[in-house]
Amino acid sequence: MAVFDPKAATRTPPKRVTFRIRRYDPETGRSWWQDYEVETYRGMTVLDALLKIKEEKDHTLVLRYSCRMAVCGSCGMVINGTPRLACQTQLAEVAVGPNPVVTVEPMKNFKVVRDLLTDFTEFWGKHRRVKPYLIRKDKKEQENPEREYKLLPEEYEEFYQYSLCIACGLCVSACPVYASDERFLGPQALAQAYRFISDPRDEGWRERLELVDGEDGVFGCHFAASCSAVCPKEVDPAGAIQRLRSLLLRYKLGLWRKKRVNGPVPPLEERKPKQPLPPEAQPLPGVDVEQLEEESIEIPVEQLIT
Ligand code: SF4
Ligand code: FES
Repeated sequence: MAVFDPKAATRTPPKRVTFRIRRYDPETGRSWWQDYEVETYRGMTVLDALLKIKEEKDHTLVLRYSCRMAVCGSCGMVINGTPRLACQTQLAEVAVGPNPVVTVEPMKNFKVVRDLLTDFTEFWGKHRRVKPYLIRKDKKEQENPEREYKLLPEEYEEFYQYSLCIACGLCVSACPVYASDERFLGPQALAQAYRFISDPRDEGWRERLELVDGEDGVFGCHFAASCSAVCPKEVDPAGAIQRLRSLLLRYKLGLWRKKRVNGPVPPLEERKPKQPLPPEAQPLPGVDVEQLEEESIEIPVEQLIT
């Protein structure tokens, strides 16, 4: 679903590419397009090219980045009209044709600080509003934890996808509702509300449901789904909003309640004794399982390379 071609790194981009970059100077209020020509190499990303421009051609170009590996979420920008992570976008993907031009602009729906650098203050404010953390009634237990909370693999799967969000803001930049209604919480915050509501360790679901119930919450979404189309982590915020909307309606009709809230795992002495292995899973005669568990297994390097 995401706008990202993992095979693009294996292709060679055109030798020279023109970068048309949207510049902005907050001191004068002037905004303009500026062209830079860049010599490329195989595997070069848009972020690599921007840093080359900054190092070799124009030190005044301002942008934000950190990890260079699609993890920190700080290099979001609009590349050829689509919100993308600059470090994840291969030039071979976006620079095509005999005289390729790649346009780079700051993300839409964010205030521009300078050039490609955007202000995330509002984004973080909305993120905080949905309380993106576990809420427990027993604050004493939460603040002085002695044991971790119980979470089964199948319960984790329920919200795993939504926990992959790196808060890059691309979904917000692509959202047409966010562009026209500044009160709208936006796809990122709503997806995070769903992530925590569906977490069986959380007891804050009621207050979060109240927060998202309204035109500035789930009912503001027109389901354009452009948020999910640009998400680099396949979080699918549009899907989360639909799930949240359905859950909210069922809750109002008295058809939904959180099934149960998981507490901490019991102390060791209270846990059930280990079940014996079924006969078909018994070790072969002569195999000492305990010894096997203790032994470190060395795998020759050549077996690791396929
Ligand atoms: S939902 Fe996706 S696009 Fe939106 S902030 Fe999270 S990772 Fe970025
Ligand atoms: S630099 Fe971290 S996501 Fe691009």
